[in-house]
Amino acid sequence: MITRLNSIEFDAALDDLAEILHACVHAGASIGFILPFTMEDARRYWLQTVQTGLKSGELDVFVVHDNGRIQGTVQLIPAAMPNQPHRADVAKLLVHPNARRRGFGRALMEALFIRTKEVRRTMLVLDTRSTDPSRLLYQGLGFQIAGEIPNYCRNPFELSLEPTTYMYKDLSG
Ligand SMILES: CC(C)(COP(=O)(O)OP(=O)(O)OC[C@H]1O[C@@H](n2cnc3c(N)ncnc32)[C@H](O)[C@@H]1OP(=O)(O)O)[C@@H](O)C(=O)NCCC(=O)NCCS
Repeated sequence: MITRLNSIEFDAALDDLAEILHACVHAGASIGFILPFTMEDARRYWLQTVQTGLKSGELDVFVVHDNGRIQGTVQLIPAAMPNQPHRADVAKLLVHPNARRRGFGRALMEALFIRTKEVRRTMLVLDTRSTDPSRLLYQGLGFQIAGEIPNYCRNPFELSLEPTTYMYKDLSG
């Protein structure tokens, strides 16, 4: 089951969200963080970056529940600038490493597409490490590749730099 969290539900979900982020980073995901990365670091991200944005209405947080726990999440962040009233970013699509390949990532994105239309946005943008399977997921959902930036971000485990692919999906058609 997919839900969009209000701020009270977000507070109740905080432990699960921190656990998912922590587990994903330690499983090698390229999602902004590098090791060492503690549970406290994970909680800080959700509290300082996401809770604030949720309370001020700047973003939506979706979660997928299974067996009484949250197993995955994604964020829709409508662009704030006046010249992009039709655009939004997709951020932090995360599925717990123990819950992958069960369709949760795709289901989260499909819920995000419905919400995107509700808030009258038509252009979705995201970026993902070029070598990650997430790229296949996004392409399967109709995202187009805009281009690749080499040496975009650091590997979470070591000093090497890795390329990122920017992608977009036009929902206006
Ligand atoms: C990317 C991620 C969210 C996918 O979540 P998921 O729940 O496992 O994805 P789904 O089960 O919905 O997979 C949907 C499709 O994506 C593709 N896919 C997903 N994971 C894949 C993998 N490891 N290898 C190949 N294809 C994969 C497949 O086409 C899959 O369809 P199929 O299972 O019918 O073949 C998950 O691997 C993850 O959390 N990764 C770490 C965080 C991350 O990199 N997020 C993206 C940031 S931009």
